[in-house]
Amino acid sequence: MAYTARDNPRRAAAKINGVPHSARIWNYWLGGRDHYPADREAGEAWITVDPGIVPLARQSRRFLIRVVRFLAGECGIRQFLDIGTGLPTMQNTHEVAQGVTPGSKIVYVDNDPMVLAHARALLTSTTPEGATAYVDADFHDPDVIIAGARGVLDFAEPIAVMFMGVLGHVADYREMLSIVSRVVDAVPSGSYLALWDGTNTSREIVRAGEAYANTGAVRYVLRSPNELTRCFEGLRILDPGLVTLTRWRPEPDGNGAAPEPVHGYGAVARKP
Ligand SMILES: C[S@@+](CC[C@H](N)C(=O)[O-])C[C@H]1O[C@@H](n2cnc3c(N)ncnc32)[C@H](O)[C@@H]1O
Repeated sequence: MAYTARDNPRRAAAKINGVPHSARIWNYWLGGRDHYPADREAGEAWITVDPGIVPLARQSRRFLIRVVRFLAGECGIRQFLDIGTGLPTMQNTHEVAQGVTPGSKIVYVDNDPMVLAHARALLTSTTPEGATAYVDADFHDPDVIIAGARGVLDFAEPIAVMFMGVLGHVADYREMLSIVSRVVDAVPSGSYLALWDGTNTSREIVRAGEAYANTGAVRYVLRSPNELTRCFEGLRILDPGLVTLTRWRPEPDGNGAAPEPVHGYGAVARKP
């Protein structure tokens, strides 16, 4: 695994100082173990108002797994750029992709020091022919991400760009669109954009977002499905379009039923 950036334990220690942080709160909702009291407090502030956040977090992981399997399998993608990776959990992008195609290459990007520390141990290639790398960078600067990824990915070949549950961290809507388009512009024709985000589609989720921000966590901006659709401008959105995560190519549970809709929408699109 390559480390392309500011891998500094003192910086990490300084940042883990009781301020709730998205990656660890997300890990709490996913049922993981990597969180601090401040993260649990912020996580519970959300759950109290909107218990639907827990199924959303868990369904989003299932969405990621289905998407990566689809891209690696049906679309023949061998390279993945997973931006806003999160703490390693079950079935990370490289495990799913390399389970389909052992030679898959994955570049992870995040700016959380705890994600960096875990990535060193856990986000390593599961196959000798594949590769993983980690870019410690802020996605507000896409040029740094692209420069870091170039060390591992071949930008002459198709790449799946992934923004999975991260774009609400960008407060300004135009800036969010610009971040996505700058990364998509850097990858060649035949590449894909896979994206989901929490949506402002229930009163509870919007109120919960307010309670969460009051705990000291950085506000997460919930957008409408229409606003998310603009991320795919110039691309061909594949069936079934931008839909609630549980409706994207669902795999029925043991009873043959699809899980309930959640307040998160996602889609996969191909760059012509
Ligand atoms: C809600 S988690 C989603 C994690 C993962 N993509 C998933 O689907 O489980 C959001 C992630 O975005 C990361 N993040 C937030 N702001 C970021 C930024 N400005 N640059 C890079 N990563 C960021 C957080 O550290 C966190 O790991």
